[in-house]
Amino acid sequence: MRIAIASDHGGLNHKAAIASHLRERGFEVTDLGPESGESVDYPDYAHALCTRLLDGEFDRGVLVCGTGQGMAMSANKHAGLRAAVVSDVFSARMATLHNDAQVLCVGERVVGPGLVLDLVDAWVDAEFEGGRHARRVGKIDCA
Ligand code: RB5
Repeated sequence: MRIAIASDHGGLNHKAAIASHLRERGFEVTDLGPESGESVDYPDYAHALCTRLLDGEFDRGVLVCGTGQGMAMSANKHAGLRAAVVSDVFSARMATLHNDAQVLCVGERVVGPGLVLDLVDAWVDAEFEGGRHARRVGKIDCA
């Protein structure tokens, strides 16, 4: 699985930790920045990742900012893309099982360095159940 990851300045530490964790687990991880802690605008990074994901360059994406909220709001503006903000393991797993969320958003100012890796694992290890959930997911996008 090809996973892209990006953050803003508020998510830089979790981004690095998640990227190395996923690489250690054998995933192909592409870090789309930023590389330093200078103040940046989270929509720039969310839109760059989502555009490339929807183009087929990646299978899934992880976006980290201070809360995860701004990243998710930006990502969910892309038709066909489902981004979930999570801070508990159950929701992270369900975001894949029932919502087929291609993008996981987490907040570095919300969840600690241990929990965030559990969230990523729960999301990436689950499989979409399809069936009635595929019907519901198909109704998410508005014309
Ligand atoms: C940046 O200060 C902060 O607003 C950002 O990281 C994020 O939390 C926005 O949703």
